[in-house]
Amino acid sequence: MNTILALETSCDETAVAILRCANGNSGAKLLTSEVASQVAEHEKYGGIVPEIASRNHLVNAPRLLERATRDAKIHLSAIDAFAATSGPGLATSLMVGASIAKGLAIGLSKPYLAINHLEGHLLSPFFGEEGVRRNVSLVVSGGHTMSILVRALADYQLIGRTVDDAAGEAFDKVARMLGLPYPGGPEIERVARAGDPTRFDLPRSMSDSENFSFSGLKTAVRYLLPKIVERFSETPDGEQRLTQTPYKLDERVLADLCASFQQAVVEVLVRKAITAARKYNADLVTMSGGVVCNRQLRQQMADACACEGFEFKSAGSWLCTDNAAMIAFTALLRLEAGLESQVTEEIDPSLALTL
Ligand code: KG4
Ligand code: ZN
Repeated sequence: MNTILALETSCDETAVAILRCANGNSGAKLLTSEVASQVAEHEKYGGIVPEIASRNHLVNAPRLLERATRDAKIHLSAIDAFAATSGPGLATSLMVGASIAKGLAIGLSKPYLAINHLEGHLLSPFFGEEGVRRNVSLVVSGGHTMSILVRALADYQLIGRTVDDAAGEAFDKVARMLGLPYPGGPEIERVARAGDPTRFDLPRSMSDSENFSFSGLKTAVRYLLPKIVERFSETPDGEQRLTQTPYKLDERVLADLCASFQQAVVEVLVRKAITAARKYNADLVTMSGGVVCNRQLRQQMADACACEGFEFKSAGSWLCTDNAAMIAFTALLRLEAGLESQVTEEIDPSLALTL
């Protein structure tokens, strides 16, 4: 039996999880998964301020650890291994979680596992399952957009990655242009529900390349905005609206623009995933990362996979945004495969997935 405690502090969420596995990976039971969000602290800056993030991790992590062990009714001495995200992420944020996990591992003479945040997302669709099956996987978050051929645990081939903005980053930047709060993805999805996705013709970057690009789409929205304001603000304050940024759009127009933007992102992700699955002869397509909370993306990917005869599996919404349960699960699989880390292993802000 293995019980793993994992910390995730790569960005602006402080998270602690405890996962217990009775026999093999099957029957892995999540005893607790705690996440302390810092969204409110960073919202007013329109993005994450590293200094604020690390200070908050320092305050939040010990509290979450205490709460996690209490909720899981377990003493730290009964934990079999300690894990932490070691990259990619913000250096000063990563350091907090990794230092705590290393300290506990050294102090209690238990193994330490340095976990790649991307591998955590990548394996999250298999959370609680016995192992990892061959699949083409999309990791779509605020910092990353990549497609990967997963052959088995720790056997990955990069298919494509974004050459500019990550999909979540594009959601966040466009939301900011529209005066919507941070993080922008959930806000755009909420507003888009009442909108017409065919109203505005926005570009889909579909080049032959297996890579992704979202900055052209973001720029198209930027150039479209003043034109829309001009066209739709035949009201007494029309002139004033033109000079205001973020632009003040009518509710209807805002909903249509959000829906059109969302649809453009979803279409690119779906088409590229399907093309990759065909090319690499995969039976299974998986998806993970914060943007996968988006219901249109889930639905359209599920429909496209069904149409093509691929099985489709995505991480549950609670596992898509940053959390420590996915780090604990990856650590469990690695521990059972004998892939422990040295406590001397450094954090690496630009850690790549080992391919
Ligand atoms: O995986 P995650 O929590 O953090 C990173 O590792 O980056 O992803 C956060 C990203 C943000 O850009 C956020 O706007 C986006 O995921 N996101 C969404 C939705 N929920 C979160 N994007 C689109 N639709 C959503 N419902
Ligand atoms: Zn993430």
